[in-house]
Amino acid sequence: MAEFKEISPNAPVTAKVTNWFENRFPTAFDAYRVHMSEYYAPKNFNFWYIFGSLALLVLVIQIVTGIFLVMHYKPDAAKAFESVEYIMRDVPWGWLIRYMHSTGASAFFVVVYLHMFRGLLYGSYRKPRELVWIFGCAIFLVLMAEAFMGYLLPWGQMSYWGAQVIVNLFAAVPFVGPDLALLIRGDYVVSDATLNRFFSFHVIAVPLVLLGLVVAHLLALHDVGSNNPDGIEIKAHKDADGKPLDGVPFHPYYTVHDIFAVCMFLMVFTAVIFFAPEMGGYFLEYNNFIPADPLKTPSHIAPVWYFTPFYSMLRAITTEMMYVLIACVVLGAGFGVVKAKLPTIFKAIVVGAAVVAIALMLSIDAKFWGVVVMGGAVIILFFLPWLDQSPVKSIRYRPDWHKYMYGVFVINFVVLAYLGVQAPSPIGERVSQVGTLFYFGFFLLMPWWSRVGETKPVPDRVTFVAH
Ligand code: HEM
Repeated sequence: MAEFKEISPNAPVTAKVTNWFENRFPTAFDAYRVHMSEYYAPKNFNFWYIFGSLALLVLVIQIVTGIFLVMHYKPDAAKAFESVEYIMRDVPWGWLIRYMHSTGASAFFVVVYLHMFRGLLYGSYRKPRELVWIFGCAIFLVLMAEAFMGYLLPWGQMSYWGAQVIVNLFAAVPFVGPDLALLIRGDYVVSDATLNRFFSFHVIAVPLVLLGLVVAHLLALHDVGSNNPDGIEIKAHKDADGKPLDGVPFHPYYTVHDIFAVCMFLMVFTAVIFFAPEMGGYFLEYNNFIPADPLKTPSHIAPVWYFTPFYSMLRAITTEMMYVLIACVVLGAGFGVVKAKLPTIFKAIVVGAAVVAIALMLSIDAKFWGVVVMGGAVIILFFLPWLDQSPVKSIRYRPDWHKYMYGVFVINFVVLAYLGVQAPSPIGERVSQVGTLFYFGFFLLMPWWSRVGETKPVPDRVTFVAH
């Protein structure tokens, strides 16, 4: 048991109350010190470091507005659409709660994509923060599942047909596919059974997992300490008390910083809610204002914008594209055998694996490989800490052309997102195929290209100009 802390009888009443609590719940006070007032964060954080706190804010907004929505929403195929209309028209402030939740979903992805990009820029996933990154990737996966299931709940045309298309993809898995799709839907088509299970997962199961992962993400980060825009370890230089010389206590320095960011964010967030909650059909698709009709397929089914880069990659995998992928496997295996300095036994394994892969690629339908590519595009992120072999972490000290590489990566991702919203077209298909190859090339060839070029000298201490 922690030692009882005595306090002077003449102390102010606030100090006495705090002392009373601290003696009865020291763990909470220790946690406050470890994670806030004595958590030393690098003093050179910049704009890119606000998105973690903003992600936490959006998480809270989603949970709170979600709780209020559930009070009036009916998870019943015959009533769901109407109950959302009832929330929008009759429930006092219901429209605000609903728009906060629907806009919050898109805001979550905006913030998380920027947060992930910061990691890429400054090599925040590199040793010793691999687990922080892996928890982050798991959060991203779970967030996608959460958003996908939430989108079914309003039971509009897009909710219904979007779910139908995506769940049907699982049916493409060899052998177990049809049973798997049946298990997910709980029926032969998306129906009331599907709505009920998605509701249960969306409101309780997935949020619990998400919260657990966020806690793990932050605990792991605070164990190893934050990275910074210079990509150097502040723990390498400490004062006589063992505090990093280039660190400042998170509270109050970064709480103030983050409160400013929260204010800016809320201005944009409320502007969207009040003036453009549908965001031209990107946040709330127009087809979703029509009740679900299992007998009428909309002419164009597209997921919400945050899924579209991955949806584009799925659509890019046609039978024709399979030959390009086979050529990539042949090239990769050929390189492994001819160029890489591998023992003969490993070379034989590479050749064997390539032959098996090609046989599978030729015998299983392209639709299945589309699903593999779409899933692989997210899974590959988990391996980033080991794919990046650059001698330096931060983009600041990498060769200049790495910046262009990242620039092209972002443009490519945005183009894929744009194409995923559009109806299929021959030119769109070609562009998304090239985009998919670039996306995977960026990551799979990273062990090679990240080492190429002259790096700049990394300073010993962080670069910081007082302002
Ligand atoms: C619900 C979603 C998330 C929340 C609430 C969250 C929260 C946070 C917070 C509060 C920080 C510390 C402040 C900061 O560095 O910005 C942080 C750091 C970090 N997060 Fe997240 N995060 C989320 C998702 C993700 C995802 C999806 C990834 C990557 C796939 C990720 C990777 C990282 C990394 C690498 C750091 C350390 C950055 C550094 O020290 O430079 N996070 N996160």
